[in-house]
Amino acid sequence: MLQDIVWIVSLALMAVVGLGWGFVLLNSGAREENYAPLQQRAYRLRTRLFWGLVAVFGVPMVLTLSDLPYDAVRPAQAGGEAQVVDATGYMWRWELSEERIEAGRPVEFRVRSADINHGFAIYDEELKIVAQVQAMPGLTNTLRHTFTRPGTYRVLCLEYCGLGHHNMFAEFTVEERS
Ligand code: CUA
Repeated sequence: MLQDIVWIVSLALMAVVGLGWGFVLLNSGAREENYAPLQQRAYRLRTRLFWGLVAVFGVPMVLTLSDLPYDAVRPAQAGGEAQVVDATGYMWRWELSEERIEAGRPVEFRVRSADINHGFAIYDEELKIVAQVQAMPGLTNTLRHTFTRPGTYRVLCLEYCGLGHHNMFAEFTVEERS
């Protein structure tokens, strides 16, 4: 759903860029000799654009900044104590300490790497990304997520890490809460 929205917004923005190109093409006529008025107009447009951008992006930014860190805003602990899953990335496989996860209960993935940087990304059955975090050597990154839908989920590597990158693949099952 969210990805569909992002896709439509991207398409709309691309269309705007395309229209911009068209506008420039249509208006690129003969060369003007006196640049001063043109320059003035351009500066005015730039100033207006600047404040327009501030208005369009500044307000949502300020409003969403107050939600940081997002984990704290989400009812992370709703549904009981978190299930801990240790996840380690190797060239080129994932090791998960659990293969069964309860739906509706928060999960805490503790993600590490045994060698180089990997991307720990969880995908649902439609191969839509659910959550992701970087797997880094020498660090443990925590990823919290509460699965609402039972099913088979996949962990893929989201960062190119060499020849076997596409083989970094693991699976776990989210089960209805007993
Ligand atoms: Cu690990 Cu790509």
